[in-house]
Amino acid sequence: MRLLAADLDPQQTYKLLTGIIVPRPIAWVCTQSEAGVLNVAPFSAFTFVSNKPPMVGVNVGRKAGVMKDTGNNILARGEYVVHIADASLLQPLHESAEEHPPHVSEVDLLGLQTVPSDLISVPRLAAPPVAMECRLHRSIAFGDTGSEFMVGEVLAFHVREGLVEDFKIDSLTLNPICRLGGPRYATIGEVTTLRPVAQTDKTVMGR
Ligand SMILES: Cc1cc2nc3c(=O)[nH]c(=O)nc-3n(C[C@H](O)[C@H](O)[C@H](O)COP(=O)(O)O)c2cc1C
Repeated sequence: MRLLAADLDPQQTYKLLTGIIVPRPIAWVCTQSEAGVLNVAPFSAFTFVSNKPPMVGVNVGRKAGVMKDTGNNILARGEYVVHIADASLLQPLHESAEEHPPHVSEVDLLGLQTVPSDLISVPRLAAPPVAMECRLHRSIAFGDTGSEFMVGEVLAFHVREGLVEDFKIDSLTLNPICRLGGPRYATIGEVTTLRPVAQTDKTVMGR
């Protein structure tokens, strides 16, 4: 089957891309409005962008042309927390995608506990095994539907005890949630470890 991108509408393209680019990690993003309302929502268009300084990016789309609360809060406050949820948090993570007006806090609705962050004003969630305190570095608009790729510098990593050794995360213990197309999720499954390949420069990103 051959599909020409020019013949597809944005919804069809979205379905294709979110089915093809799988599994995706999920950034569970906590933001705070200027009025102080705590917001949390999942974003699976998520990747890391730089390791010095550390930067991570999430692609925040629009709903009927309107920027999502997460995007508005990140642009307004410039600070936010990206969490990695483990499988035990799948239900609240999924439910946190439900649409609510800006004055409604998903953090309160879902009964999620928070703790103060160390370097930013936005608190982090207590339950997830990883939290990254971020400061907005740059937001770049892409495409006709007005997606914003928001890149944040990670100022502090919070990693649950026992998950990290020599800066390496034990993926099976982390047990992150993977996103597939639509409301479908997976966990890591079988892990295969191969002999490292020879490299001349061990400092490059993505080795
Ligand atoms: C697992 C999952 C991943 C999602 N990933 C994205 C994403 O990458 N970008 C996006 O714009 N919306 C994504 N969404 C939808 C948002 O979470 C949803 O629009 C949410 O209501 C946004 O909340 P907010 O308006 O409070 O920011 C995702 C939803 C789920 C369930």
